[in-house]
Amino acid sequence: MSDLSPSSILETQGVSMIFGGLVALDDVNFQVEQGSITALIGPNGAGKTTFFNCLTGIYTPTKGQVLFAAQGSDGHRTVKPLRGLSPDKITGLGMARTFQNIRLFNNLTVLENVLIGCHCRMKAGLFGALFRDKSTRDEEKAMAEYSYQLLVKYGLGSVVNDLAKNLPYGDQRRLEIVRALATGPKLLLLDEPAAGLNINETRELEDLIHLIRERENLSILLIEHDMSLVMSVSEKVYVMEYGRVIAQGKPDEIKNNPAVIKAYLGEE
Ligand SMILES: Nc1ncnc2c1ncn2[C@@H]1O[C@H](COP(=O)(O)OP(=O)(O)O)[C@@H](O)[C@H]1O
Ligand SMILES: [Mg+2]
Repeated sequence: MSDLSPSSILETQGVSMIFGGLVALDDVNFQVEQGSITALIGPNGAGKTTFFNCLTGIYTPTKGQVLFAAQGSDGHRTVKPLRGLSPDKITGLGMARTFQNIRLFNNLTVLENVLIGCHCRMKAGLFGALFRDKSTRDEEKAMAEYSYQLLVKYGLGSVVNDLAKNLPYGDQRRLEIVRALATGPKLLLLDEPAAGLNINETRELEDLIHLIRERENLSILLIEHDMSLVMSVSEKVYVMEYGRVIAQGKPDEIKNNPAVIKAYLGEE
């Protein structure tokens, strides 16, 4: 197994995912620079979400390796091979995501949704959660305060006690992102965050992404169809078609790449 480049937070090496006879990902080599915003674009069915599922442990790639620069308990960078690890374990190492279809607990409050995101940071474990000793109660209190502050920081401070289902769609997206942030990620994965948003909400999302990058010390990888959003926030773009990376480069280079234009026009 080769090593992770010192400037990368994530690399995949020859990742393939085969479902029955369908090759959903074919030998994908991918790199996310530490601190960057990287975009993954491509027509519907290209394999983008499958790729996220392979990174986050929902699927184990049929072939290949995923290397991640995790933060050790001593604060030092440790390179971890992720293949075969569970989603919880991967979240704990510092990778968090949102889903293409929003996955909130509709009948829980905004604050409760974020608290669930915090769960993996708690030390209490099952015993503490069942018997709720003093240290568990203190920890829960600290988590509630931390979650509340995070919601305030990202513009949801006035709706913390509302049910998630009663938020406007744009705020539901925002909440899902805040919940992901609550796990303290070093890499944040966003799967089509602008899907279903109107123009104003998309603009607010763009501001939110810039803000997160300014305030949190993290890298972002986003799948997105909204080209103006991709062009405005990302430093590097990968283009996927039929499970393969067909182009990669700066947004400007990608915009004028003939293979990319063909992949998109071919979809119409
Ligand atoms: N669990 C699965 N079982 C079988 N086929 C799947 C599964 N997940 C995704 N696929 C297939 O993999 C291909 C890529 O899907 P997906 O990753 O969702 O594409 P994208 O996110 O780029 O639109 C599609 O043909 C899809 O039907
Ligand atoms: Mg998808």
